[in-house]
Amino acid sequence: MREQLEKIKNDAVKEIKVGTDSKGLDEIRIKYLGKKGLLTGILRGMGGLSTEERPVIGKLANDVREEIEAALEASVNKIKSGEKNKRLLEEVIDITMPGVSSKIGGLHPETKVLDEIKEIFFGMGFSVAEGPEVELDYYNFEALNIPENHPAKDEQDTFYINDKVVLRTQTSPVQIRTMEKTKPPIRIIVPGRVYRSDAVDATHSPVFTQIEGLVVDKGITMANLKGTLDTFAQRFFGEKTRTKFRPHHFPFTEPSAEVDVSCFVCGGEGCRVCKGSGWIEILGAGMVHPDVLRRGGIDPEIYSGFAFGMGLERIVMIKYGIDDMRLLFENDVRFLKQF
Ligand code: DAH
Repeated sequence: MREQLEKIKNDAVKEIKVGTDSKGLDEIRIKYLGKKGLLTGILRGMGGLSTEERPVIGKLANDVREEIEAALEASVNKIKSGEKNKRLLEEVIDITMPGVSSKIGGLHPETKVLDEIKEIFFGMGFSVAEGPEVELDYYNFEALNIPENHPAKDEQDTFYINDKVVLRTQTSPVQIRTMEKTKPPIRIIVPGRVYRSDAVDATHSPVFTQIEGLVVDKGITMANLKGTLDTFAQRFFGEKTRTKFRPHHFPFTEPSAEVDVSCFVCGGEGCRVCKGSGWIEILGAGMVHPDVLRRGGIDPEIYSGFAFGMGLERIVMIKYGIDDMRLLFENDVRFLKQF
């Protein structure tokens, strides 16, 4: 029996040494130590031994079991770490390989120009006010002195939600909304989306952006309007820029003017950008009509004000030499990347 045990041990250790994967080692374990295994077989035969021999052989059998188990474990560990190293080598990341860089986004030219315009007006003490795009007909027209029969109210020009509600056609209604809830001095700009029932072409879009301005205080005159717009024009288009006020009519201002800036490309001599005139029209403006102040809850005997409104897309197009407004809305990355 002693010799049998010795042989089992030697055979097992030998087999374990040549085993190369976990599965093979499992088979060896079953062959020797399993329920029907060789060592178990020996232990079963121990019944026939004498009382002196039994503990001796029992101990020997246990030693053999322990040795086989130890050999198995050592081998399993070796194989496992070998398998792990192999996997690590296969999974290695080559950090010298060129990477796939993700594209970085940028600001839309309208956002850039709007930020710039806001900064200029912030510098003159203005703050930003906002109002609803779905607006009461009252604020969009009536409160601004636009009479019931005015062509701008025509369904061909205005999107009606119902009899009393429209998509605002201008940012001017925010003038009234602000006056209603703020006491002078008021100094705001109102950037926002406006809607008109226009067909899309190179210079028109049913949705576009306006920037409204409103100043109300004691003693505000046309000179303040001119000074404010001159400062804006010089900071935005360049120091040498001059403004020109042409008489015009808006129902909500009196007097009213259309304002041109001297061409920032040719300086006023005439070029392609200003179409030879030396001037570029950029906004409408005027002194707030007393009736409009009154509707905003402000006494025109004590206060006066000026207002202006410009189209952001137009200014962006002038500034960057863009000849088709649609480019600003299509968001083609090849176009947007250029700014
Ligand atoms: N709301 C006018 C428009 O959409 C623009 C405008 C002109 C606004 C004169 C004003 C202003 O505040 O004083 O055509």
